[in-house]
Amino acid sequence: MECAIRIGRGVISLGRIIAIGNRKGGSGKTTTSVNLSAALAHKGRNVLLVDADPQGHSALSLGTHVTPEQKTLFDVLVGGVGLQETVRDTYLSTFHVIPGGSKLATFERDHATDPAAKLMLADQLDSVREQYDYVLIDTPPRLAS
Ligand SMILES: Nc1ncnc2c1ncn2[C@@H]1O[C@H](COP(=O)(O)OP(=O)(O)OP(=O)(O)O)[C@@H](O)[C@H]1O
Ligand SMILES: [Mg+2]
Repeated sequence: MECAIRIGRGVISLGRIIAIGNRKGGSGKTTTSVNLSAALAHKGRNVLLVDADPQGHSALSLGTHVTPEQKTLFDVLVGGVGLQETVRDTYLSTFHVIPGGSKLATFERDHATDPAAKLMLADQLDSVREQYDYVLIDTPPRLAS
C-alpha cells in the first residue's frame, strides 16, 4: 500500500517510514534494517536507510565510513544541517544511507527527556519523504519510545 497526499488535483507519493526497533540489544535490528532495505532496493524501490544507532553498524556494513568533516544524522538533529546534505550513496543507485555516527550517543544523553527531540527526526524526514518509496530507520537498543 502506498502513502500519498492529495494537493488540489495532484497526488504526491510519500515514502513509507519503517522504524526497526527493539529495546533488547543484539536482537537483529541492524541485520533486518540492512537486508530489508537492500531487498527493497534490489526490487527497484528507492530506499533510504537512516542509521540512528551510535554504533553505526548499518552504515558501516554498507561500506559507508564517516570522516570528521562529513555531516551525519547528529549534525541534523543538533541543527543547522539539512537531512539531504547527509545522504550517502551505496553500491546500488536505488539505495541510500544516512550515517548516524558515534556523536549520536551525546545527543541521546543530552536530550533523553526533551519531548521536542522526539519530533526532530520526524520533521526532517518529512523534508525528504517524497524522494523515497521507503525510509527505514535502524534504531539503537534501549530506545525509550
Ligand atoms: N535471523 C537471524 N538469525 C541468526 N542470527 C542473526 C539473525 N539476525 C541477526 N543475527 C545475528 O545476531 C547478532 C546481532 O544482530 P544485530 O547486530 O542485527 O542486532 P541488533 O539488534 O542491531 O544489535 P544492537 O542492539 O547492538 O544494535 C549478529 O551477530 C547477527 O549476525
Ligand atoms: Mg544494531
